[in-house]
Amino acid sequence: MKLSQKAKNINPAVTLALTSKAMDMIKEGIDVINFSSGEPDFETPDYIKKAGIDAIENFSLYSHSDGVKELREAITKKLHNENNLKYSYNQIIVCHGAKQALNNAFFAILNEGDEVIIPAPYWASYPEIVKKCGGKPVFIYTQKEDLFKVNVNMLKEALTSKTKAIIINSPNNPTGMVYTEDELKEIANFVVENDLFVISDELYEKLIYSNKIKHTSIASLDKEIYDRTIVINGFSKCYAMSGWRIGYTASNKKIATIMANVQNHTTSSVNVIAQRAALEALTSSNPILENILYEFKKRRDYTAQRISDIPMLSSLRPKGAFYQFIDVSKLFGYTIDDITINDSEDVAKILLDKYRVCVVPCNMFGYDKYIRLSYTTSMQNIVEGINRIEQFVKQNF
Ligand SMILES: Cc1ncc(COP(=O)(O)O)c(C=O)c1O
Repeated sequence: MKLSQKAKNINPAVTLALTSKAMDMIKEGIDVINFSSGEPDFETPDYIKKAGIDAIENFSLYSHSDGVKELREAITKKLHNENNLKYSYNQIIVCHGAKQALNNAFFAILNEGDEVIIPAPYWASYPEIVKKCGGKPVFIYTQKEDLFKVNVNMLKEALTSKTKAIIINSPNNPTGMVYTEDELKEIANFVVENDLFVISDELYEKLIYSNKIKHTSIASLDKEIYDRTIVINGFSKCYAMSGWRIGYTASNKKIATIMANVQNHTTSSVNVIAQRAALEALTSSNPILENILYEFKKRRDYTAQRISDIPMLSSLRPKGAFYQFIDVSKLFGYTIDDITINDSEDVAKILLDKYRVCVVPCNMFGYDKYIRLSYTTSMQNIVEGINRIEQFVKQNF
């Protein structure tokens, strides 16, 4: 039986595999601290849930395949007011999470063999989505000294005649770094000069922990880069709505029309109930964000400080998102109970099996010397989990 080679090239989602092992252990009654989750640990606020419940009573048929018009209009207002971006509602496509938005975007722009520059560390699904759409991921390994951000010199080195697009993810998963407007301007000039596209993943845009740092969408910098950017955004992270599965793209009209056709023949519209709930999230004046930001900032401050106090580990203080990206390479080469630590996966396995702490090894993000810790769990769990990590290091090294 011969299956598709293209499909067989897609790697499994390791984050989910590790989380599910931790979940199985928790079900068996083992007290595991789970730092692997990539979603807020808050419930969707009641006023948004209520809009979903009302929608069940009132909307049960297909919506337009590109999304409910009121929602697309609300998204254009948001993009205008918050991001200085002007779109009409028919340039917006509401998708099944930011993940489908990314799939639509790459499907729309890639031909077989086109290269996509992915700055590493990267969110694990990017290379797989690019491959699925016929493209070839080309990685740039950014450095801690550059705050894990890509610059024009690095881009020049990665550029070939096949380069089609660059992914920019700011705030970044897994590093928590945020690009400044000046940094984005340089990248934008490079993109325009070399006739490329940018896929700008802005899913964590509201989760920034300093008033002095501002999120900038690269598409807002000028008309030329606007035309070449597909903005990716959604409701999963900033509105605690990961399970509702609502994301969207904003792009020039020509690309939007192609993505609309792709989506129409894939899933049609996102379910209307979730779309109505997202509309409420966007148009209500309820202060959900302040509460989420306040809580995450407290956890970020605590986590960053505790990790920097543990010998052998090092980490930059994240500016946004909800992840701590931790260098564990000083532990490599040591042997613990017959297991020699060679990479981040060995560290993650020992932490889970022996210390009951679940973290994500960053080999799947392109960085084998790092683990990712999500502070999407209670402060009490964070304190206990970091105590265990500290114990692991102090007992063994
Ligand atoms: C950087 C980034 N982009 C996209 C996604 C996908 O988000 P969604 O849940 O909206 O599909 C994630 C989810 O973890 C992410 O971290």
